[in-house]
Amino acid sequence: MMKIAVLPGDGIGPEVTREAVRVLESLGLPGLTLFDGDVGGIAYKRHGHPLPEETLTIAKSCDAVLFGAVGDPDCDALERHLRPEQAILGLRKHLDLFANLRPAKVFAGLEHLSPLKPEIASTLDMMIVRELTGDVYFGDKGERVANDGSREGWDMMAYSETEVQRIARVAFRTARSRDCRVCSVDKANVLETSQVWRDTVKHAAKSHPDIDLSHMYVDNAAMQVISNPSQFGVILTGNLFGDIISDLASAAVGSIGLLPSASMGDRATDFGRFGLYEPIHGSAPDIAGQGKANPMATILSVAMLLRYSFGREDEAARIEAAVEKALADGIRGGDLGGAHGTVEIGAAVRERL
Ligand code: IPM
Ligand code: MG
Repeated sequence: MMKIAVLPGDGIGPEVTREAVRVLESLGLPGLTLFDGDVGGIAYKRHGHPLPEETLTIAKSCDAVLFGAVGDPDCDALERHLRPEQAILGLRKHLDLFANLRPAKVFAGLEHLSPLKPEIASTLDMMIVRELTGDVYFGDKGERVANDGSREGWDMMAYSETEVQRIARVAFRTARSRDCRVCSVDKANVLETSQVWRDTVKHAAKSHPDIDLSHMYVDNAAMQVISNPSQFGVILTGNLFGDIISDLASAAVGSIGLLPSASMGDRATDFGRFGLYEPIHGSAPDIAGQGKANPMATILSVAMLLRYSFGREDEAARIEAAVEKALADGIRGGDLGGAHGTVEIGAAVRERL
C-alpha cells in the first residue's frame, strides 16, 4: 500500500493539489491510497482549529503528505495559535519534519523569467537544506515590558549540537547525489547559536571526507545567491535564515509557480522516508478559485514525494521530464506570463508523462 494524506488547505491549494493528484493517479501505481484532511483557514472554519486532531492522525498514519497551501486573510485577526500558518508549523513539529529540501533551479528556456542576467541565471541550480523544527521559530517567545515601559517582544534563538548534527547529515547525504559541495550559512560573527552551529557542522563533516564544505555569513550568502549562484550546490542553514534565503533563491529563479519542496524526518517507511511535500508559493488568495494558478510546483512536489518517500525514482523522473516538456512546448501559467489555466496545465503534463 502507498498511503498518502492529501491536505489541500486554503486559497489556490485545492485547485493545484487536484491537478497534482490527477498526475499521481494517472501513473497507475499499485496500492495507491489517498486520504483527505482539512488544514489551515478552512480547517479553522470547519473544526475550530487550523490543524484538527483528526488531520494529524491521518497524516501520522500515512507514508507521505501532499500539502497544498495555508493562509487566509479572513483569519489574520485570530490569535496566533489559531492562524492558518500554525497548521504547517504544527505538522512540522508533530511529525518531526526537521529537514526542508528546496531545490531552486532555472529551467532551460526560462532564463528570461529570472531577474538575473540570463548567463548568470542559467547557472543557478542549488538545493537549500533548511532546518525546520528549531531556532527562533520554536524557541520560547513572549512579550514583556521594557525598561522604559514600552512593549517588548522577544524570541529565543537556540540550536543544540544534536539538532545541527542531524540536519548536517541530511545536507551531506543530499550533496552526494549532486557534486558534493555544501555551503553552511550562519551568522557566527555575531550569534552564539551560529558558533555552535558552525563548530558542529565542521565536526560532522569529519566523518564525510568526500564533502567539500564551506561556510558563509548569511548576509554575504544573500548577496552571493544572486550575484554568483553557480558557487552553490547545497546550502545548509537554520530555520530563520533558510526561510529568507529560500525565498531569495526562488525569486532569483523568477518562477515561484515552479518550485516544489520536501520536509523530511527520520521515520522510515516501507519504501523510503516519511515526508511532507508542498509547493513553496503559498495560498495566493488574490487568484484563488479562478483556475489561474500554475499547478506545476505541486506536480513537481509529487515527483519529490515519489522519489524520497517511495523510492520511485523512475516515476519521479518521468513527472519532472513531463513538466519540462510542457514548458518547452510553450505551456505557461500566468505566473510565467502565459495564459494556460490550472486544469489545462495539469492535462498538458499528463499527456506528456
Ligand atoms: C515557509 C513559510 C512558512 C515559514 C510560514 C508560512 C510559517 O514562509 O514555508 O517558508 O516561515 O516557514
Ligand atoms: Mg518562507
